[in-house]
Amino acid sequence: MLIVSAPAKIILCGEHAVVYGFPAIAMPVFGLRARATVRPLDRVDFRIRLLDTGETLVLTDTDHPFISLVHRATRAVDRPVPTGIEIDVSSDIPIASGLGSGAAVASALVKSLFQHYRLESDLTRINALVYEAEQAFHGTPSGIDNTVIVYESPVYFVKGRDIEPISLKGKYHFVIANTGIPASTKETVAKVRVLYEQAPKVTGETFENIHSLVDQSRKALTVGDNEWLGSLLTQNHEQLQKLSVSTKQLDLLVAVALQAGAYGAKLSGGGGGGNMIALVSQDKIESVKSALLRSGAKRVYTTILE
Ligand code: MEV
Repeated sequence: MLIVSAPAKIILCGEHAVVYGFPAIAMPVFGLRARATVRPLDRVDFRIRLLDTGETLVLTDTDHPFISLVHRATRAVDRPVPTGIEIDVSSDIPIASGLGSGAAVASALVKSLFQHYRLESDLTRINALVYEAEQAFHGTPSGIDNTVIVYESPVYFVKGRDIEPISLKGKYHFVIANTGIPASTKETVAKVRVLYEQAPKVTGETFENIHSLVDQSRKALTVGDNEWLGSLLTQNHEQLQKLSVSTKQLDLLVAVALQAGAYGAKLSGGGGGGNMIALVSQDKIESVKSALLRSGAKRVYTTILE
């Protein structure tokens, strides 16, 4: 039996602008993971069992993104689709919540196939395959989600460029709160595209403002300044409000986190529902979590960047 897993992700800053070639910073959430477990099957067959939904996929389900990913991945490494195995897929990551559940499952699936074939874990190649799966899910993704999830490390990402590692100083504690409202990244990305077409100047300025906040955030991370980073994240939320991807519930949770003493807070990911994040000092984690739950957050998680 072979078990391979991949983490969830959060976007620290720069979402949406990143689709247009501006930088963004993302980090893995190691405590929330998707898993692919490869087991021998007593038949000459191949199947994927999606344990969370009870679905079973077979090779002829080529319309399903995971089966089409298996076909593409095996073609890319010049191997036949394996027979006599089943891959059980499960995930702790809430779906349609901006935490990268689709990319994490795709990453675990491709990595499990590479390991099954005892191939070198070529992350560039795996990332390209997971990116194609993301395109099937989301239309025109920037590639940031698959990159942070496949590499499992914080990234300063610019579409089409080599990823830049971030040199971090200090520790950063985040509370992540799920609004419980399903969010379609495809829809919010399309919404921002319409806005950009209708108001290119103002929207372009918003992207530039976000760009500046992302670059300052990278600096804050390299000097270990939680207060500065927090203020930049809150400013990023204000810019995302201008792009109309925030919602009343996200705005409320951001305000509640700030009131409860967070250094800063913002929506994270596509918006329109999904998740927000709050940067907090260690001693504020519990009070910020309780305040968010009292204000309607459906689930809260914590993660550390160090
Ligand atoms: C989603 O996690 C981030 C977005 O910028 C979309 C993308 O980059 O593909 C909203």
